Amino acid sequence: ASSVACLMLSGAVYAQDMTVGFSQIGSESGWRAAETTVTQQQAKERGIDLKFADAQQKQENQIKAVRGFIAQGVDAILIAPVVATGWDDVLTEAKDAEIPVVLLDRQIDAPDDLYLTAVTSDQVYEGKVAGEWLAKEVGDKDCKVVELQGTTGSSPAINRKKGFEEGIASNPKITIARSQTGDFTRTKGKEVMESFIKAEGGGKDICAVYAHNDDMAVGAIQAIKEAGLKPGTDIKVVSIDAVPDIFLAMEAGEANATVELTPNMAGPAFDALAKFKADGTAPPKWIQTESKLYTQADDPKAVYEAKKGLGY
Ligand code: AHR
Repeated sequence: ASSVACLMLSGAVYAQDMTVGFSQIGSESGWRAAETTVTQQQAKERGIDLKFADAQQKQENQIKAVRGFIAQGVDAILIAPVVATGWDDVLTEAKDAEIPVVLLDRQIDAPDDLYLTAVTSDQVYEGKVAGEWLAKEVGDKDCKVVELQGTTGSSPAINRKKGFEEGIASNPKITIARSQTGDFTRTKGKEVMESFIKAEGGGKDICAVYAHNDDMAVGAIQAIKEAGLKPGTDIKVVSIDAVPDIFLAMEAGEANATVELTPNMAGPAFDALAKFKADGTAPPKWIQTESKLYTQADDPKAVYEAKKGLGY
């Protein structure tokens, strides 16, 4: 591993001469692409040499990449873990090689001494915020919801489902009629929404769609339009991420609400790593990012303009 020099500048820590391996999931969504861009920008700003590996949605590729980073003797490893289980062995290998690992945006089911920290949102809370918004919006009308889940076995799919169920629990008029994975992609989101529409009276029986990310919501909006219905009015649309495209849909009245997930997970991760390398200060095991609700009342056009350029 290269030598590590750290500079403390007005509160922020900059790690120079650090080589960091980054195992990214792939590019399934607009949010994911932005996270990759922002990670590269944050590394560049700090003079970090970032080794990037795209796993194309496969955990086996991630494990291979991490083993490669260990063999190269990198100073640290970032992993955005595609699924929550199956990480113990490779993380033990990184630990034995004394290479700190930071998890980005998704959590795992493994003992927390196998990684330095995890920079993620509270995904149960995200789902809960979406559910509570819908519970209030629906009031005392009967409402059949269809749910587009994220990648099966991933922490956001598990947690956003759980959180949403908690969020709607206060409103007995809401039921989840159908729930299926759309793999966090636009194409699959559209496809699954088409099948939901077919199964639910041509869409007339659906009151809302809850998508675990905005890309699937954008796909669903397309399917709703093609079925001759009005997204945002005939079928409410609530999702998670707050990518620029969902604000265009909100501006057009075709999406109703989204919960923001920052694509900047790497900034806090690099700061934590730099401090750890400099003086051994261990960060908390969880560095939580913010989750903010946006609705059509939040000037979607202005938010769209502000978001463009922030990695999107
Ligand atoms: O893990 C974060 C999720 O992964 C984002 O919400 C989604 O867009 C992405 O694919």
